[in-house]
Amino acid sequence: MKNQLILILDFGGQYKELIASTVRSLGVYSEIKAGNIPIDEIKKLNPIGIILTGGPNSVYEDNAPIRDKDIFNLGIPIFGICYGMQLMTHVLGGIVSKGKVGEYGTVLVERENGDKFNALMSHRDVVEKLPEGFIQLAKTANCIAEASNHEKKLFMTQYHPEAKHTEGGRETFKNFLFRICGAKGDYSLDDFIEVQMKNIREQVGNGQVLLALSGGVDSAVCATILSKAIPGQLTCIFVDHGFMRLNESEEIEEVFAKRNLNFIRVNASDRFLAKIKDIFEPEKKRKLIGEEFVRVFENEAKKINADFLAQGTIYPDIVESGGTGEVIKSHHNVGGLPKDMGFKGIVEPLSQLFKDEVREVGRKLGLPNTIVERQPFPGPGLAIRIMGNVTYEKLEIVRLADAFVREELDKLQVRPNQYFAVLTDTLSVGVKGDARTYDPVVAVRAVITEDFMTADYFPVSHDVLGKMAKRITSELPVSRVVYDISPKPPATVEWE
Ligand code: XMP
Repeated sequence: MKNQLILILDFGGQYKELIASTVRSLGVYSEIKAGNIPIDEIKKLNPIGIILTGGPNSVYEDNAPIRDKDIFNLGIPIFGICYGMQLMTHVLGGIVSKGKVGEYGTVLVERENGDKFNALMSHRDVVEKLPEGFIQLAKTANCIAEASNHEKKLFMTQYHPEAKHTEGGRETFKNFLFRICGAKGDYSLDDFIEVQMKNIREQVGNGQVLLALSGGVDSAVCATILSKAIPGQLTCIFVDHGFMRLNESEEIEEVFAKRNLNFIRVNASDRFLAKIKDIFEPEKKRKLIGEEFVRVFENEAKKINADFLAQGTIYPDIVESGGTGEVIKSHHNVGGLPKDMGFKGIVEPLSQLFKDEVREVGRKLGLPNTIVERQPFPGPGLAIRIMGNVTYEKLEIVRLADAFVREELDKLQVRPNQYFAVLTDTLSVGVKGDARTYDPVVAVRAVITEDFMTADYFPVSHDVLGKMAKRITSELPVSRVVYDISPKPPATVEWE
């Protein structure tokens, strides 16, 4: 039986994945599609409700992504958030104009009944006049914050209910999903493993499958489902690209070689290093590493005659690689795939799941906590934690600096969700012994986040920061250490 669907139309909003995962966490299946998907496709998908995301544009500008009125005549409940609210207003005959002042951050909102709450706002444009049939439900000092057309089941907020800074945001979603759309809450991961095992068997038949095992939670969960679905038809290849953390490759080999998988480790570090020699541009590095990854697999595949390539790709990988809109960073496991793969097909059993959902499946599969809760590590590894060109010497520095950072932060009772060192491309003067040095600057990054789509810096104590800095500067050719306190957005977690 198919789950009821909430369709999220993406107009370039940074929070689209948070909207989608919030909806799912309330027991309703959601998918993100491009804002301009044809109306016929929407009808085919048959959603019980549609959410229009925010976005960077102004509706009255020439190139703004606008939709025809027809979507509002489908009889499907629609919820417009931020830009989504302005789009709805504009298309339905209301007026959107540039506000006197922008509102960014937490802003006080007042409902018509006098109730007040804080909500996250990020806008300059305002709805000046609502379209016919809409009534105002809430306002701030500068804008209409919430409005609805009950009869047509159209609802909109200028604020972001998906942001955790918005008080009562989950209630706003519940209201839309269960009261307005009539959702049954029929989505859960209870039968996920069984359904995927069946899909995998149908897809691959008697074929041999090659899996890219990275040691991370995604590929580990993927490997475990596959090994249950098609025992004897699976070979797991761990490509050691040489950009792994200290001792990590050995640890991965130890954990997985023991499991019931045909595990092969390929040492390809020289090949990868040569491939990205003198490449300074991050996107290019990612693409080249991704391509090389696939080449190495193809070589191995030839040796064992594999028909299919399996990957632990998850939903945010697809969304962030421009599956629905703008490319933020091309994650190597998607962006790097060339067209002429040489495999019959790709098996991606986790491609519809968010990270927290993958962890839940991992626990259901009985994987140990060390794997399920492992801190994420990007596919291109340390190569994107070295700003600019990558050399063997730089890798050695960042690998040890990273190990020192992790060693100190691993000791904490409450740990950040991700923490590591970055080797910047800035050189700075220092003094060691009696000699002047001119060595690179290392940055320490430690973030708290629920979903990696938004993140805040972790308040590491000065004492711990001091210890890390002392160790890194005294044991490595590094002149100074800085601590990165940027939030995401506008920064990202990784530096490249
Ligand atoms: P950003 O830097 O985009 O990172 O804020 C968000 C999360 O994604 C991880 N990340 C990657 N993971 N391949 C991956 O598998 C990649 O190319 C990649 N780039 C970033 C990052 O470590 C963080 O957890």
